[in-house]
Amino acid sequence: MKELVIASDNKGKIREITALLDDVQLLSLKDIGFTDVIAEPYHTFEENALAKASAIYEFCGKNVFADDSGLCVLALGGEPGVDSAHYSGTRNDVQNLNKVLAELEGQTDRSAYYKAVICLIWDGETYFFEGRCDGEITQAPEGNDGFGYDPIFKPNGFEETFGDIPLNIKNTISHRGKAIAKMIAFLQQQDV
Ligand code: IMP
Repeated sequence: MKELVIASDNKGKIREITALLDDVQLLSLKDIGFTDVIAEPYHTFEENALAKASAIYEFCGKNVFADDSGLCVLALGGEPGVDSAHYSGTRNDVQNLNKVLAELEGQTDRSAYYKAVICLIWDGETYFFEGRCDGEITQAPEGNDGFGYDPIFKPNGFEETFGDIPLNIKNTISHRGKAIAKMIAFLQQQDV
């Protein structure tokens, strides 16, 4: 069975992907003994995902994937985008989403989308898989589930935010869920 490293410390992502991938042995950063923080200095999700995957590939030489994701608000010129994790200058989810609400005050166009880009390095070749989820920013936070900007993001076709939508439903329509599905389809075509 081939090994595949997840270049993430996010336990939720690891659990979700472990449930989806039967034919590959998934390894965490802990499993490979990687403890450094990987810099994400770039202005695109693609470049940051590539930076993370490449750093791990250089460290261990194993097949690896990394994802980079964020919220893009049209009236804010695509912000917070690649800066989503620290938009308010902190990594605090509530402060970050409050900054988005403050920036959007008085705006009628509240459309936004989440984007996720996965970079996979498989047998020395690099592949990208992308997912996008369109929706709008609510006037105030709703719901306690999810993380990040989920309480203020209402996906198109739903009356509730990702703060209220159960995870198993979110995974079928989310940016990350779609990108992972594409990677899984690719891996199923490989000789794993
Ligand atoms: P990561 O690089 O996938 O860990 O996420 C980057 C940042 O984008 C997170 O810290 C969140 O602020 C935001 N983000 C990405 N995906 C989601 C999501 O599914 N829900 C809420 N926030 C998200």
